[in-house]
Amino acid sequence: MSKVQKIAVVGGDGIGPDVINEGLKVLDVVAKKHGLTFETKKFDLGAAHFHKTGEVLHDATMAEIAKHDAIFLGAVGDPTVQSGVLERGLLLKMRFAFDQYVNLRPAKLHPGVTSPLATKDPIDFLVVREGTEGPYSGAGGSLAVTTPREVATEVSINTRSGVERVIRYAFELCVARGRKKVTMVHKDNIMLHSGALWKRTFDEVKREYPNIKTDYFHVDAAAMFFVTDPARFDVVVTDNLFGDILTDISAAITGGIGLACSGNISPDPKFPSMFEPVHGSAPDIAGKNIADPTATILSLAMMLEHLGHAQAAAEVNAAVAKDLATRTSGRSTTDIGSAIAALI
Ligand code: IPM
Ligand code: MN
Repeated sequence: MSKVQKIAVVGGDGIGPDVINEGLKVLDVVAKKHGLTFETKKFDLGAAHFHKTGEVLHDATMAEIAKHDAIFLGAVGDPTVQSGVLERGLLLKMRFAFDQYVNLRPAKLHPGVTSPLATKDPIDFLVVREGTEGPYSGAGGSLAVTTPREVATEVSINTRSGVERVIRYAFELCVARGRKKVTMVHKDNIMLHSGALWKRTFDEVKREYPNIKTDYFHVDAAAMFFVTDPARFDVVVTDNLFGDILTDISAAITGGIGLACSGNISPDPKFPSMFEPVHGSAPDIAGKNIADPTATILSLAMMLEHLGHAQAAAEVNAAVAKDLATRTSGRSTTDIGSAIAALI
């Protein structure tokens, strides 16, 4: 029997638990088939837990989650909780504390899926979004709140080491996946300080990879090309906020956020990485058995790969691809999960 790997499961808010259940269904099937042993532990976190306890994520719970090999997350955010409380207190807390500096978001248009774009070119690229710095750092503050003199600053933190490690990861990923080009996206024509740091670091790191092509776009141009000519992109590396926005576009052009998966990866094995669908909690359809669990199941495949089970991951991806190719409308969350599980 293989070594036991521990997975912390956080269904979270809204449709999070609905889609996570389907992910676990698929995990069960693929684990049995490959003789893999996972110990899953559910953590009851999110809006309901916050209302009940007044706490978002206790330090003791964090310490327990830290002992897992990976985190499988559904969704975070609920209209009954002030905006930002759960996002910062739960999602960003884990991304930051576990140093998940790579937010990997594949953009792949599967056969059978309709893109809103007119182009018939294949869409298949990887976005490496920085996950621990930039405008997400929380640096900044307010003065004279609610007065006419109110001041608000939101400071983007960019460290040489933080920028360098994520750029290097993008190049290494490009090599490992047999891809050809890394494109950096920033806005160095107006963000003079962080832009210069990113650009200089990119130019230095790229010299270590003479066989990889490189490119640079300002984020506004990149947003346009994601829509008009996505075939330009192979591996994209960018700042946390630019990457957040661009990956909603890349999701939209590849069939919508119902299909977009992601990994918050800490390459340092001492921390658990966290795998989650890109979509939010969609509270209006929670518990109705209509949310698409595909993004979560694709995120599960990323988790399996990260945990060293490339073959099992490939089988989950293949099952999803097969399901998408023959998809009929009107299927429920559990229908889709069961169909994909049955294909494995
Ligand atoms: C995402 C989400 C989060 C982010 C929110 C919920 C904080 O939009 O994962 O893309 O901005 O990173
Ligand atoms: Mn987002």
